[in-house]
This record gives sequence, C-alpha cells and structure tokens, in this order.
Amino acid sequence: MRKIGGHASLKPRSDIARFATKILAVLAVGFIGFVVFFYAAPFQYSFSVWAPDQPIAYSHKLHAGDLEINCQYCHAYARRSEMAGVPSVSKCMNCHSNLTIDSEQIAKLTEHYDQDKPLEWIRIYDLPDLVWFSHKRHIAKEIACQKCHGPVQTLVTNARLVKHNMSFCLNCHQENGAPTDCLTCHM
Ligand code: HEC
Ligand code: HEC
Ligand code: HEC
Ligand code: HEC
Ligand code: HEC
Repeated sequence: MRKIGGHASLKPRSDIARFATKILAVLAVGFIGFVVFFYAAPFQYSFSVWAPDQPIAYSHKLHAGDLEINCQYCHAYARRSEMAGVPSVSKCMNCHSNLTIDSEQIAKLTEHYDQDKPLEWIRIYDLPDLVWFSHKRHIAKEIACQKCHGPVQTLVTNARLVKHNMSFCLNCHQENGAPTDCLTCHM
C-alpha cells in the first residue's frame, strides 16, 4: 500500500533519480560505443590484415608507386608460369649497386648480395594445397594484378588486402564465362 502524507514528497525525487540513472546509462553506453568505434576499429583492421615484418623494409609504394617500376619487371614469371615469382637480391642490385643510398636497410641488402644469401621474404598470399591456380592464364587475359591483390603500389608494407576465398574466384569466373566446374580449381 502506497503511503500518503509526509512521505509523498519522496516519490517525485526518486523518479528524477531513476530518470537521471537512465540518462547516465545511455550516455555511458554511447560513450563506450564511441570509444570502441574510433579507437578499437583501426586496431581490429590492422589485426585482420596480414602484413608481416619482412627481412628488409621494402616499399611497393616507393618502387611500384612513386618510381613506377613495372610489376612484371620484378615479378617476371607472372605471364609465363603458375608463379609470379619474387625478385632475387641481384635484381634489386641492378639498381642499388649504382645508387649510393646511405641507409641501414641498403647496407643489409648489400650484405646479402655480397654473401650470396637470399632474402627470406614472408609469403603474403598462399592458397591451401587443394586449390590449383596459375598466374599465366589470368595475365594472358589482361586481368590487372590489382584485381586480385588490391592497390599494392600504395603499400609501404605489403599486406594481404584481398581474401582469396572460393567465392572470390567463382564470382569472377561466372561474370567472365570462365570455367566453374569443381575440377577447374580442384584437381
Ligand atoms: C586472378 C587473380 C590474380 C591475378 C590477376 C594476379 N594474381 Fe598474384 N596471386 C594470386 C593468387 C590466388 C596467389 C596465391 C597462389 C598460390 O598460393 O598458389 C597469388 C600469388 C602471388 C605472388 C606470390 C606467389 C608467387 O606466385 O610468386 C606474387 C608475387 C604475385 N601473386 C604477384 C602478382 C603480380 C605481380 C600480378 C600481376 C602481374 C598478379 N600477381 C596477378 C592471384 C592473382
Ligand atoms: C629500378 C631500380 C630499382 C630496383 C630494381 C630496386 N630499387 Fe630500391 N630504390 C630505388 C631508388 C631509386 C630508391 C631511392 C628512392 C629515393 O630515395 O628517392 C630506392 C630505395 C630503396 C630503399 C629505401 C632506402 C632508404 O633507406 O632510404 C630500400 C630499402 C630499397 N630500395 C630496397 C630495394 C629492394 C629490396 C629491391 C629488390 C626487391 C629494390 N630496392 C629494387 C630503385 C630501385
Ligand atoms: C622492385 C621490385 C618490385 C616491384 C616493381 C614490385 N614488386 Fe611486388 N614484391 C617485391 C618483393 C621484394 C616482394 C616480397 C616482399 C613483400 O611482400 O613486400 C613482393 C611481394 C609482392 C606480393 C606478395 C607476394 C606474396 O604472396 O608473398 C604481391 C602480391 C606483389 N608483390 C605484387 C606486386 C604488384 C601488383 C606490383 C606492381 C604494382 C609489384 N608487386 C611491383 C618486389 C617488387
Ligand atoms: C578477375 C577475374 C578472375 C578472378 C578473380 C579469378 N579468375 Fe581464374 N580465370 C579468369 C578468366 C577470365 C579465366 C579464363 C582464362 C582463359 O580463358 O584462358 C580464368 C581461368 C582460370 C583457370 C584455368 C581454367 C582452364 O581450365 O582453362 C584456373 C585454374 C583459374 N582461373 C583459377 C582461379 C582461382 C583458383 C582463382 C581464385 C584464387 C581465380 N581463378 C580467380 C578470371 C578470374
Ligand atoms: C575458380 C576456382 C574454384 C572453383 C571452380 C571451385 N573452387 Fe572450391 N575452392 C577454391 C578456393 C580458392 C578455395 C580455398 C578457399 C579458402 O582458402 O578460403 C576452395 C575451397 C574449397 C573447399 C574447402 C572448404 C572451404 O570452403 O574452404 C571445398 C570443399 C571446395 N572448395 C569444394 C568445391 C566444389 C565442390 C566445387 C564445384 C562445385 C568447387 N570447390 C569449385 C576455388 C574454387
């Protein structure tokens, strides 16, 4: 039973308190959401994109972007084999033995060259063994590298910008009348 009299004045006050609590709760949730959205989201993004530290801080942005070196100058097998291939140290030295850049990274590169030691680049893209893929067929159809690897020429550190899952392959095959039967890619 509701009491009347001296206690009646408590009711409006506790209503205000409850209302204030609700407002505070909404603001708190909003604030947490704001923090998560603006701070956590970029970290999540950088966690979900595979961008390993490489043995030398080689920059596609500098070489393929700013200096406009053709992708296939370094990835020379792309048009004639399954693999695109990663350039040898001596290919880098075609330029770097003539350039006098005083830097720790170039010193490291030169050391590898002098000792005939290959650079162990960490693979970015690697399909599971059950899938067969060949660059040659795709390059012959003049499909741009960027269709499957994203804007590599903008990357200071290389990263896996594109997910090569089955629907990624199938969608383009469907759109372009390329074969879609299972044995095309699973042999
Ligand atoms: C139709 C999609 C497609 C196109 C176009 C394409 N790639 Fe690839 N690339 C792939 C896939 C898929 C892999 C992973 C292959 C594997 O693991 O067997 C790969 C792997 C690579 C690799 C690492 C392994 C290797 O083959 O040496 C390099 C380097 C590469 N691509 C460079 C290029 C360059 C440069 C171009 C343009 C000249 C290009 N790719 C065009 C899909 C593509
Ligand atoms: C076609 C010529 C050419 C080739 C090939 C080449 N580079 Fe370079 N590289 C340059 C030029 C030019 C610069 C300097 C650009 C500048 O500083 O203005 C440079 C800069 C660099 C730098 C930055 C140096 C620093 O610390 O400032 C690194 C690291 C590097 N190259 C590594 C490599 C590696 C590794 C390869 C082989 C995979 C390679 N380069 C192949 C032309 C080339
Ligand atoms: C001067 C040489 C050079 C040029 C030019 C160059 N690359 Fe590369 N690329 C490399 C080296 C070295 C690596 C291995 C280190 C790395 O991943 O950054 C590599 C790695 C890659 C990979 C990842 C291979 C894997 O799966 O590990 C792709 C994809 C690629 N390059 C695409 C391109 C495309 C597309 C272009 C043109 C826009 C290009 N590259 C131009 C030297 C080059
Ligand atoms: C951007 C479009 C595109 C993407 C993405 C693509 N392909 Fe293709 N692929 C083609 C086209 C077009 C052909 C037909 C080439 C021809 O007619 O010679 C082809 C042909 C092939 C062939 C040869 C088929 C045959 O029997 O002649 C294989 C294998 C293949 N692709 C595998 C893959 C795999 C695996 C992926 C994903 C990792 C992939 N492709 C992604 C466009 C694409
Ligand atoms: C154009 C190329 C292509 C064709 C055609 C294709 N696949 Fe795949 N498939 C792939 C690729 C690429 C993967 C690897 C996906 C990954 O690593 O996420 C894959 C993965 C798979 C897997 C492993 C599970 C999974 O989803 O990762 C199965 C099972 C599979 N495919 C079955 C099939 C069947 C059945 C067909 C025919 C209806 C087919 N595939 C046609 C490219 C293809």
